[in-house]
Amino acid sequence: MNATLTDQEFELFKDLIYQQVGIRLDAPKKTLLVSRLGKRLRELGLPSYQSYFDCVSGKGGEEELTKLLDLISTNKTDFFREPVHFDFLREVVLPQVEATKALKIWSSASSSGEEPYTIAMTLHDALPDISRWDIKILASDISTRVLAKAAAGIYEEERISQVPKDVVRRFFLKGRGMQAGKFKVRPDVAQLVNFRRINLMDASFPIRSSLDVIFCRNVMIYFDRPTQAKLMEKFYRYLRPGGYLFIGHSESLQWIDHSFQYLQPTIYQKP
Ligand SMILES: C[S@@+](CC[C@H](N)C(=O)[O-])C[C@H]1O[C@@H](n2cnc3c(N)ncnc32)[C@H](O)[C@@H]1O
Repeated sequence: MNATLTDQEFELFKDLIYQQVGIRLDAPKKTLLVSRLGKRLRELGLPSYQSYFDCVSGKGGEEELTKLLDLISTNKTDFFREPVHFDFLREVVLPQVEATKALKIWSSASSSGEEPYTIAMTLHDALPDISRWDIKILASDISTRVLAKAAAGIYEEERISQVPKDVVRRFFLKGRGMQAGKFKVRPDVAQLVNFRRINLMDASFPIRSSLDVIFCRNVMIYFDRPTQAKLMEKFYRYLRPGGYLFIGHSESLQWIDHSFQYLQPTIYQKP
């Protein structure tokens, strides 16, 4: 039998999710919650949403809480999505760090890896002497499910259908036999990227050196303004002076307090 999600239970999940990941679910998202959590309830044989809530919020519920966050996150992404940032990286950022040949980039909501791998491909393309560079790309997300996919670096043909053919040829290995129809990011590209789970809501991040560029695209849209403002403060701390912040095209810092300098739509700099 299917359990019904009462308004009271919805409020419990809403508060828990906001506390954990900063995402505010509004009333229309009740249906989404039912469709994503209902299956999980049935798998666990739980009679009600309240009992599932008790399970994720109680002692020892961390693992199930991770699963819940996996289920509710929206992970839409693409290779070479919003290309202006990759052009900016090549045309503006690389000439500025050419002298030191060192570059640290953080893809802070990396989803299944398309964004950080696109960064790595852009750098490979632009730097014929890349082996002499010290490049580190940190890619993180809250969802362990997408991170596992990202770390494997294997994509269905349909996922790369928009990627230019010569890019596919240069940066992917085509699967054969059992792997036919799949494409794996080449090891020399993949080795530039390190994946780990980081929650953007955490007070501090496990990052020691100051970063040249932070990508934070298409995730802030799910956060309310106070949460966005706190995140901007933290990003500011982790960037080096002169470092850049890239946000998504449907996002803006216009309505929040921050110390970044606006350069052009979706691109900000720490003075
Ligand atoms: C729509 S995807 C964006 C992917 C990529 N940045 C892009 O623009 O194509 C948003 C990602 O943010 C992640 N996310 C949501 N809340 C988060 C949080 N509090 N900390 C870290 N990642 C989070 C989701 O799991 C999801 O993979």
